[in-house]
Amino acid sequence: MKSQIPGFYKMTVEERLVYLKMQGVLSEADSQQLRGGLEIAAANRMAENVIGTTQIPLGIASNFRINGRDYLVPMATEEPSVVAAASHAAKLALPEGFKASSTRPVMRGQLQLVDIADQEASGRAVLEAKRELVQKANAFADILPQLGGGVVDVNARPVGPREEGMLVVEFFVDCRDAMGANTVNTVVEGMAPEVAKIAGGRPLLRIISNLATERLARAKVVYRKEAIGGEGVVDGIVKAYRFAFHDPYRATTHNKGIMNGITALTMATTNDSRAIEAGAHAFAAMSGRYLPLSRWGKDPSGNLEGEIELPLAYGIVGGATKTHPVAQVCVKLLGVKTSTELAEVAASVGLAQNFAALRALATEGIQRGHMELHARNIAVMAGAKGDIVDRVAEVLAREKDFKVSRAKEVLEELGRQGEEPDET
Ligand code: MEV
Repeated sequence: MKSQIPGFYKMTVEERLVYLKMQGVLSEADSQQLRGGLEIAAANRMAENVIGTTQIPLGIASNFRINGRDYLVPMATEEPSVVAAASHAAKLALPEGFKASSTRPVMRGQLQLVDIADQEASGRAVLEAKRELVQKANAFADILPQLGGGVVDVNARPVGPREEGMLVVEFFVDCRDAMGANTVNTVVEGMAPEVAKIAGGRPLLRIISNLATERLARAKVVYRKEAIGGEGVVDGIVKAYRFAFHDPYRATTHNKGIMNGITALTMATTNDSRAIEAGAHAFAAMSGRYLPLSRWGKDPSGNLEGEIELPLAYGIVGGATKTHPVAQVCVKLLGVKTSTELAEVAASVGLAQNFAALRALATEGIQRGHMELHARNIAVMAGAKGDIVDRVAEVLAREKDFKVSRAKEVLEELGRQGEEPDET
């Protein structure tokens, strides 16, 4: 399936689904699932005290080519212009697209030991027993060892000053295609008594770390200067990046733009967005200073080069990704076969999203494009319904006046012309 779909944005929702079915990307059952969403009984099993479900729009970003393969990227987001911006940024990167890579999907489980008399001696004892601990820990790692994953390493290090008497023992688990929180937590809980026998002290917290520095994804892209508006635009984007590099107030917003893309993909596949967000922002601050997650510069020919690296702990085989019917369709649509492939797609989407934001900010600003797409929301706020929404939005965009008060006037004018709002 090619990721370029001419005129996809102009189609109706129904036409888009028909198109995807004709391409063999979705079955009729898949398209029913997309419309049906999450049934209340399934929702009631997923969380507690359930009283309903909430829904956010699910779109597809087109034009993504990553490591030579085309992807249709499902994105769940309430924010107008995110999907359009990602698609456009991916289009400008063609024909080469993005080059992405990732590490092994290794997560870190932490066991906190308190009342430790001698941090160094306890730490040494754990390290001396490392082989035996790895072997024993794998008994708690479910089927991961059979799949080529499982516990791969153990480490021990003092945390805090000597007088606080704390040691952390960390188990590193290759989680394969699972996000891994359940297995990692089982490993550290299961191993706590054994470790306390070796290190002394008393086990307290036993929990995964969401700062997944062993589970990184990276993406790179080159935008030819002619494709993106020339040297001035390249320079503007590099300066925009330098602003974020030097200033944490800007870096936060820069990274928010990256997460617009990554979180939308995370939500579409019903992965743990809080884990991904926490990991990303902590990683951005690893140097002791909060920095942008991406870097932009110029290659010797004056083209724009960008790269991104961040921890991305995705799962495709368990949790809500497996039980949420829409997430299942999204994973199928993406066609990813491993958690690391999903992470590579997410890193590329984050980089594309960041490029789109910086290009808009460094040129005309984001408000025009953003408000044009937001105009339909403003029309709805003014009370427009059905087909009238687009008609009101068109007038607002033409006049470049996006106030709700103006939308109300337009609505009244259309009403006077006999364009009664469609009540369906
Ligand atoms: C808005 O959701 C995201 C941006 O603020 C990102 C950025 O400033 O880089 C446009």
